[in-house]
Amino acid sequence: MTTLLDLFLKGKCKNCPPIWFMRQAGRYLPEYGRVREKCKTFLDLCYTPELAVEVTLQPVQRFSFDAAIIFSDILVIPDALGQKVSFENLKGPVLSSLPLDSFQTILSYDRFFEKASSVYEAIRLTRSSLCTSKTLIGFAGAPWTLSLYMLEGAGTRDFAGAKQQAFQQEQQFLELLDFLVEVISNHLIEQVKAGVQVIQIFESWGGLCPATHFEKWILKPTQKLVSKVKKVFPDLPIIGFPKGIGPHLLEYSVKTGVSAVSLDSSIPLSWAQNNLSSSLILQGNLDPLLLVAGGNGLKEAIRSIHQEMGDRPYIFNLGHGILPQTPLSHVEECIRVVRSLG
Ligand code: CP3
Repeated sequence: MTTLLDLFLKGKCKNCPPIWFMRQAGRYLPEYGRVREKCKTFLDLCYTPELAVEVTLQPVQRFSFDAAIIFSDILVIPDALGQKVSFENLKGPVLSSLPLDSFQTILSYDRFFEKASSVYEAIRLTRSSLCTSKTLIGFAGAPWTLSLYMLEGAGTRDFAGAKQQAFQQEQQFLELLDFLVEVISNHLIEQVKAGVQVIQIFESWGGLCPATHFEKWILKPTQKLVSKVKKVFPDLPIIGFPKGIGPHLLEYSVKTGVSAVSLDSSIPLSWAQNNLSSSLILQGNLDPLLLVAGGNGLKEAIRSIHQEMGDRPYIFNLGHGILPQTPLSHVEECIRVVRSLG
């Protein structure tokens, strides 16, 4: 049997691709709701190792996915740096204000590892109870995506306030990105030391970066981040998920140093095949709403992804996180079809 990790170590195997889903531990699972109820806030769940482990394992136990992704959130970083983060029901995340011209006075490294250590503890506990054939994935948000939440103070459609500040005070903004590169790389290094075998960098709002600033705001910071982590762990597989960057994927895949790229559903796989190095590992890219819809459309889309990927090593995944309204039976069906591919 080939594991997800084997794909990075040995390349494509003849069998079906390994499969996991972004946000696979979450609200579409009734057992997640039962654990979530035990905690007053979402961050309490992230910071309680025993519960984070339980939730991390749930999707692997129910569906036998090939990988577990540690249960946490990209916004644990600002929270552990001292910027207050809360998750208001149905409103998404809310962060206390962070003026760009004085971010150094609010963000502090002093208590970071004290708070983040519960994430590393959850990783140690998860690895020791996870079967060796299952890969444990760690993650963090990329500097650009994290900075947008931190400056906007919430998740919005266009992050207009954050982007305006970045344009108006670019020097300070670049300093914030540099600071985040440092923190994120250390957070990822600690996750690997605790037992994750692969990491994923979520650039969920890559599509909001103007093409003219792509190099400064996304490419260079990601390059620095990857090289800092690789300096400590040269062979660590790193998956980049630069959502919405379209044709910049070529530069991203060549210059950042990532080992694999996760594609969002807007990327035609024929474009990826023609433009991205044939040895690059790809991940993706089923539309999460096709999984909600189910039926023949779902089956056809799965087979079409497999066919388009051809001889390339790839990991079956969604183009973005699984949606809360996804029927469990559609997840089962999807895994059944993927496992029947040869
Ligand atoms: O993938 C997993 O199973 C691991 C857990 C995980 C969560 N968040 C748990 C979560 C991961 C990998 C994330 C990453 C994350 N968090 C991203 C990048 C991925 C993406 O979807 O683009 C982003 C942008 C965030 C920030 C975030 N966290 C938002 C915007 C929200 C609110 C919107 C929403 O989906 O609810 C969250 C909350 C959150 N993070 C939940 C979960 C399970 C739901 C909160 C709850 O249960 O009350």
